[in-house]
Amino acid sequence: MRYGAVEAVHGISFGAEPGQVTALIGANGAGKSSTLAAISGLVPASGRIRFEGRDIAGKPPHEIVRAGIVQVPEGREILGRMTVEENLLLGLRGRDRSGIASAYERFPILDERRALLAGTLSGGEQQMLAIARALLAEPRLLLLDEPSLGLAPLVVARVFEALADLRRQGVTMLLVEQNALRALRLADQAYVMDLGRIVMTGTGDALLHDEGVARTYLGVT
Ligand SMILES: Nc1ncnc2c1ncn2[C@@H]1O[C@H](COP(=O)(O)OP(=O)(O)OP(=O)(O)O)[C@@H](O)[C@H]1O
Ligand SMILES: [Mg+2]
Repeated sequence: MRYGAVEAVHGISFGAEPGQVTALIGANGAGKSSTLAAISGLVPASGRIRFEGRDIAGKPPHEIVRAGIVQVPEGREILGRMTVEENLLLGLRGRDRSGIASAYERFPILDERRALLAGTLSGGEQQMLAIARALLAEPRLLLLDEPSLGLAPLVVARVFEALADLRRQGVTMLLVEQNALRALRLADQAYVMDLGRIVMTGTGDALLHDEGVARTYLGVT
């Protein structure tokens, strides 16, 4: 992947298995968001991107969404002056309203807040709203870019509890995170990116207990 003359991601190769959480971790500028952008069709990339046996590289974003890959945007893109329910209704895009009920079932906190302006929700609640809205499209692969960004530790814990619930429900996720500890605890399989390359891979558990990973990404000395 390149931005003009600058190559940002260099020949990476990885996969995400159905029903699992796959995590991409790594420092600022490692190429994590760029990788998601390539999968979503937002930035061109060379090489192959295969989803359920189909080559999706080079397809426009709306076709990739239709194929079943939905990304929760970094920064959430919640419409603050609309209510929680209105934000969810926008995510339906013509699908029947029963999805809204299942969103409230998954995220009871959103049910409690359904009539409030979304802008008045806490950061963690807004993140859950963004995830709930993405799930209304019934994705077969959910892409998440830094769901913990800018949240207080307690709120981060709550967001990751919600992701663990989704994992139990069988939602397939590709998760990009700088919070390596949380990501590795949740992940079935994880990949460490550095300077546009994948430098290490293993189960979340194996990487959690890897000394090099602990020193570089978990702040363990
Ligand atoms: N729109 C862009 N134009 C030019 N260069 C870009 C653009 N977006 C990203 N880059 C560069 O590509 C590289 C990878 O960036 P990317 O945002 O994918 O990293 P990241 O791993 O998501 O980092 P972070 O953890 O800070 O979000 C960086 O060197 C970055 O400066
Ligand atoms: Mg990023």
